[in-house]
Amino acid sequence: MGSDHFLAVFTTLSGTGAKNARKWSDPILAFSAKRTTAPDPRGAFFMPARPSPLLIKYAQARSPSEDGTGIQGVVDMTVEAIRKRRSVRKYEETPVSDDQLSQILESARYAASWANKQGWQILVIKDAGIQAKLSEALEGNPGSKAVSQAPVTIVVCMDPNESGSPNDKQYFMTDAGILMDHIMLQAADLGLGTVFIGFFDEDKIRPVLGVPDQFRIVGITPLGVPAKIPGERPRNELADIVHWDKW
Ligand SMILES: Cc1cc2nc3c(=O)[nH]c(=O)nc-3n(C[C@H](O)[C@H](O)[C@H](O)COP(=O)(O)O)c2cc1C
Repeated sequence: MGSDHFLAVFTTLSGTGAKNARKWSDPILAFSAKRTTAPDPRGAFFMPARPSPLLIKYAQARSPSEDGTGIQGVVDMTVEAIRKRRSVRKYEETPVSDDQLSQILESARYAASWANKQGWQILVIKDAGIQAKLSEALEGNPGSKAVSQAPVTIVVCMDPNESGSPNDKQYFMTDAGILMDHIMLQAADLGLGTVFIGFFDEDKIRPVLGVPDQFRIVGITPLGVPAKIPGERPRNELADIVHWDKW
């Protein structure tokens, strides 16, 4: 998507286009736009993207340094990771380093949760034997083979009692989704692939991993260097999904 197009869309939708158009003339943001349309130095799957003014504001609040590692780092990472993430179902054998793994787990730890309950437990599996058994238990799922191919598998388990369910909403599922997204986006930023596997028989998985009964097994993802990066899946247009002020 061209930058003019992005701005045009933003202008139309927000009604504050003139103000934001002025913001783009800021040298830091101009640098940002240049950086985000340059080839990805990591050679990973790259989608050109321009940070939204809202995201820049957020990044500025979180990271006030203007030396290229502060605002720029946060803006680039978030936008690029969101745009380039794909569900990866084929992996290389290349190992994931401890450093990469700890960055991913650190980002997971910062996920939002209902009343900050953080009712999650994260299983990190590197044992090829356990991965093979898990892959078998996932048979029939399009992501099952990836679990035995990738060097690491991450499993997110939730304690429903460590979350809430007011108004007939199971917040632990939402919490798990946010946690998984932190994992997937941080992995994408590092050039690593993931795929959220959510369709499985928990009773088959539980004994393989020894997960206690009080926990629900919500999400599984292989983690590794992608052997094949799928194309972008279609997304609904904003005009079809966004309602302004009232439905
Ligand atoms: C909650 C959830 C459950 C999913 N379960 C599976 C699954 O069981 N197996 C699988 O191969 N992909 C699964 N996916 C991946 C989706 O198919 C994928 O995200 C979607 O097709 C969009 O493609 P993209 O992730 O490459 O943008 C799941 C995704 C989500 C968010």
